[in-house]
Amino acid sequence: MCGIVACRTDGSPTGYLCDALQALEYRGYDSVGIAVQTRDGGALRLRGTHRVAELVERIADLPQSDLTGVGIGHTRWATHGGVSERNAHPHSDCSGSIHVVHNGIIENCEELRSELLARGHEFSSDVDSEVIAHLMEEEVGAGVDLADALSHTIDRCEGSGAMVIMDSDSGRVVGACRRAPLVGATSSNGSFLASDISGFGSLVASFQVLRDGDVVELAVPLRWTGRNPDQPPVVPHEWTSSDMGLHGYPDHMAKEIDEQPELAGRILDRLVGAAGSGALWRGLELPAFERVAIVGCGTSLNAGGIVAAAFRRFGLMPAETVIASEAADTVLGPRTLVIAMSQSGETADVLHALDGDNFAGSTVLAITNNPNSSLARRANAIVECSAGQEIGVAATKTFVAQVLTGVAVAISALSEQGRVDRANTRSILGDLLRMPDLLAQSLTVAKDVVPPLASQLAASQGVIFLGRSAGVVYAAEGALKLKELTYRWAQHYPAGELKHGPLALVEEGTPVVVVDSGGARIAGNIAEVAARGARLITIGGPGSTIPALGRSLMAPLDNGFQPCGPLESVIPMQVLARELALVLGRDVDKPRNLAKSVTVE
Ligand code: M6R
Repeated sequence: MCGIVACRTDGSPTGYLCDALQALEYRGYDSVGIAVQTRDGGALRLRGTHRVAELVERIADLPQSDLTGVGIGHTRWATHGGVSERNAHPHSDCSGSIHVVHNGIIENCEELRSELLARGHEFSSDVDSEVIAHLMEEEVGAGVDLADALSHTIDRCEGSGAMVIMDSDSGRVVGACRRAPLVGATSSNGSFLASDISGFGSLVASFQVLRDGDVVELAVPLRWTGRNPDQPPVVPHEWTSSDMGLHGYPDHMAKEIDEQPELAGRILDRLVGAAGSGALWRGLELPAFERVAIVGCGTSLNAGGIVAAAFRRFGLMPAETVIASEAADTVLGPRTLVIAMSQSGETADVLHALDGDNFAGSTVLAITNNPNSSLARRANAIVECSAGQEIGVAATKTFVAQVLTGVAVAISALSEQGRVDRANTRSILGDLLRMPDLLAQSLTVAKDVVPPLASQLAASQGVIFLGRSAGVVYAAEGALKLKELTYRWAQHYPAGELKHGPLALVEEGTPVVVVDSGGARIAGNIAEVAARGARLITIGGPGSTIPALGRSLMAPLDNGFQPCGPLESVIPMQVLARELALVLGRDVDKPRNLAKSVTVE
């Protein structure tokens, strides 16, 4: 993971680096650091285990006149080596003139480190990235040009990653990557590199995406060397600045939870007409298919579970979800449409799954919130979720956006391929259009009922989540949110599975959250846990603990399945996770050990 940035600018390098790091902090926030060339050919290096906001405060006291416009910066998600100042990037060579920021994992790090130690290099951190600085030191010391030295160095490092090197003697900055994102651009303010376009989006009108084998040097225009005979295409870019403000909310997660009903309305306004006419599917210009595999991780995988269910239930089409990090074991049948579901579009597990031999030649549709992402570039077609930027690390509104977008695409594709007739298509889409109201009603109930419940769970060590049918997927999402935000154990089960083992966990007071989508069978499962003294929290219709479910519970369609199942059940579980996290004193926008974009396998 990690975010990397670099600049050669006429303006303030520290101002640029801090703004860019703030934009990239979603990639990791264990520690942060910058190195800026000083006018005497040295480097000012500032690092710490704090957030970017504190770096900004530290920089405010520095005399800017000592600095040139050349610098690099990094925001870290720890892989090798603990979270400490000495492990924060940038890392430097023995001479103190080569400085490196790196995103990725060097798989042969121990071997390289041993070689370098044997040749007399001294290491000052525990991180794999430091070997890059010493390998570069040897190359440059032997008279190799900085860009060629980087080309040789990246060849010696196994694994995927991106790296940027600053030579503070010469003031040159070069970058390269392998199977990891790095983009470059120039403007009248200078030249820039970053892990993604948000690192300089407001400053440039176009950008270039580094390919494996490219080496780029910061200059105007960018200077391209490396193994590729040509330079990467220039991608025009219109920056739409995101609204990062809290607007009176205490945290981004609270704001993002609240945005969901209105967002659902906007998404459906955009997609339902086109889904009904089939234009949504036709516009993608993808071949007809007979099966579906939805690849994703975490919350996106859960959203994929609902979309896969829609393909199965409405079109009787084989559809499965594939855990991206386990995708190597998947066997895709003929004429499979692969749907890659990823909020960030940068998730390494997803990108690498698509690179697997077993996925070679498959048609990939990306459903992503980031049309400028690596995934969007890799896919044959994309449908944007259009959730707006999600800043809280816990996915909330992007989950709802993925479910609605994916289900609309599914209905459009099935209808166009004659697997759902027109009347049914209309009825399903009509039901989908009720979702904004159902979400709004659920939000109102959740904000009223859930906070006192959350306080009562403060002493509980773990929570069980249950559901049936589509409710299982929502139970999974509820459990994931709770773990991620509260650092407490949470586990979901199909309610019918409980008696096959997990029921042994239930004792007097064990919290059990049930997505109660109605019917005798789940009522029976609720009775089973109640009989063992569970602290039951049901999310259902009137009379349940959190009466947040509306029509999706009460009036099933003729075919017995609502387009998204009880999607509105997710809101009380998001609110529960956030409220309990706050009771426990957690940072709900930046939970420990996590990052918004997971760019390592
Ligand atoms: O960017 P992606 O949607 O591909 O990310 C996948 C997961 O890392 C992500 O959904 C994660 O599970 C969420 N932070 C959970 O809230």
